Amino acid sequence: MSNIKEQTINKLKTELKTKSIGQVIKYYPTISSTNEEARRVAELGAIEGTVVFADMQSGGRGRRNRVWESPVGGIWLTIILRPKIAPVHAPIITLLTGIAGVNTISKTTNLNSTLKWPNDIRINGKKVCGILTELTAEHDKVSYILVGLGFNVNNKISDFTKDLRSKVTTLSKELKYMVDRNQFIRQFFEEFENLYFKFIQDPERIIPKILKTWCQASDTIGRTVRVETINETIIGLAARLDRDGALIIKTINSKENRIIAGDCIYLEQ
Ligand code: BTN
Repeated sequence: MSNIKEQTINKLKTELKTKSIGQVIKYYPTISSTNEEARRVAELGAIEGTVVFADMQSGGRGRRNRVWESPVGGIWLTIILRPKIAPVHAPIITLLTGIAGVNTISKTTNLNSTLKWPNDIRINGKKVCGILTELTAEHDKVSYILVGLGFNVNNKISDFTKDLRSKVTTLSKELKYMVDRNQFIRQFFEEFENLYFKFIQDPERIIPKILKTWCQASDTIGRTVRVETINETIIGLAARLDRDGALIIKTINSKENRIIAGDCIYLEQ
């Protein structure tokens, strides 16, 4: 007999209106990391849209291999994608995931959230979601892309380590009630699939629209920031995104710096 959580996942699948995203869900009460499990099943041939979902992660990972705290009550999942796109376009998937996240939060809770380059969703300046996109390519061809999402939903702030508590928020903390996680996930899969299908059908046409929508929902553009990359630290104005989703920083001498990956710290509120 299936347990309660499996029944919940089955209900989610029955009510889901997507063609591919979430039509196969691999559910785990506890797992080390959904991204690691998704990599394993992707290597074994899992189809596009397969989702690995866990109630808790014991070894959740964030960007730059940081620890991602994943207590019970949150939504920790990874989507496996097999798009026929150039690897250089992969960062656009992080941007469209962020847009799908913001739209989902607004439609299911009415809360306003913002995007912080490259991969955060925030509410009132506090992180509510992180996105970890990992690309595996061979000979300039995408084999698969893993989109890992960590949403703080009904998890408790007191379950986070002390130094994180002032930097993060959860949907239920903002709303003062518990959120229907199933409804939230369903909405997210539908928002995501809609944007993703448009993107893979005609990347060149849709990329400018994604960039524009992302910038409108972002609180990064127009700010003075410090960006720390593996090699350097740059301070300047976050001017715009370029076609590949890289952040363009204008320094005091008006030089434009193109940042593909890094941490972005706001220097003013
Ligand atoms: C970040 O902001 O640094 C990205 C965090 C991504 C966390 C999610 S939770 C589900 C998936 N599995 C992981 O181990 N990480 C991602």
